[in-house]
Amino acid sequence: MNLLILESTCDETAAAVVTDSLEVLGSAVASQDELHQRFSGVVPEIAARAHVERFLPVIQLALERSQLTLQDIDAIAVANTPGLAGSLLVGLVAAKTLCVALDVPLLAVNHIHAHIYACRLAAGRDVFPCVGLVVSGGHTTLFDCRSPADFRVLGGTIDDAAGEAFDKVASMLGLPYPGGPAIGKVAENGDPAAYKFPRTFLKDASRLEFSFSGLKTAVRYSVVGPGRADFSNLNLSEQQVADLAASFQEAVVDCLVGKSQQALAQTGAKVLCVGGGVAANRRFRQRLEAELAGQDVELHIAPLRLCTDNAVMGAIAVEQFRAKQFENLDLDAHPGLMR
Ligand code: KG4
Ligand code: ZN
Repeated sequence: MNLLILESTCDETAAAVVTDSLEVLGSAVASQDELHQRFSGVVPEIAARAHVERFLPVIQLALERSQLTLQDIDAIAVANTPGLAGSLLVGLVAAKTLCVALDVPLLAVNHIHAHIYACRLAAGRDVFPCVGLVVSGGHTTLFDCRSPADFRVLGGTIDDAAGEAFDKVASMLGLPYPGGPAIGKVAENGDPAAYKFPRTFLKDASRLEFSFSGLKTAVRYSVVGPGRADFSNLNLSEQQVADLAASFQEAVVDCLVGKSQQALAQTGAKVLCVGGGVAANRRFRQRLEAELAGQDVELHIAPLRLCTDNAVMGAIAVEQFRAKQFENLDLDAHPGLMR
């Protein structure tokens, strides 16, 4: 069975072909970074229009890489939650059209669950039950993942997502979009202890929640001082930028690692799976590995190619295919995370 998976929740247009034994036959991702760069963030309307232009060539490329044609496809899966409404709708329309044209069934992908499933794919074996941590541009959420079909939210951010904070802090520091990779790079030359930034909720083990907006404001006050809105002509030295980036990154990483530990302790889980764009952060990966070493916990961090948005991780739909959980053609887009 060959499953064609479509992904367009935010600003990546992606397609992949995966078999029911989870073999990845081909994958393609078209990034829109260059379209959103001058706005220092994703502009939803631009993203949706770019998906319209890019979907057919991206599907074609994924099929070519799989050495298949549309006639070889047995089912279509599409990410329908969470994401930008316009972007999700483009993917849904493409998926439904293909289902009608090819007379094949439709499957729905929860994009956030798929970020965790990236760890299952990379492991090549079962990783459930586990604690799952998704750290992306739109979400920072801890799950009690009892099976690929049973994810329960343990806690999430009450304001900004970690990736969103990376992007906004990068913009304050005059670094390019997306901010995560840019901050990670300059932070390598910075002192993570140069600035004392808050680690919200970290000491309260009973709360598996995150908050990054206070941290973002603390960075802002360090950069321009309270009450000033103008980030031009700051004249920060290269070292100051590196120190601010490293100190900010360390505060985020402390919270992510600390809350993961608290979630493991609370659930008694012996496996931790981490995915999402921010999971590509080198310092975060190092700290997770260092701090879980010697503990009786199996750590899976999604490989770099499966951290940022892609269609391969949508192979979680193979689980639904096996359970014959097909969708009707009135399947809707759900911009908020469906529980
Ligand atoms: O998972 P993703 O591709 O899209 C969403 O589902 O949101 O995550 C994108 C986010 C962006 O905020 C980006 O700045 C961040 O992931 N990111 C990183 C790194 N690479 C991407 N953050 C920190 N370090 C990185 N190396
Ligand atoms: Zn994502």
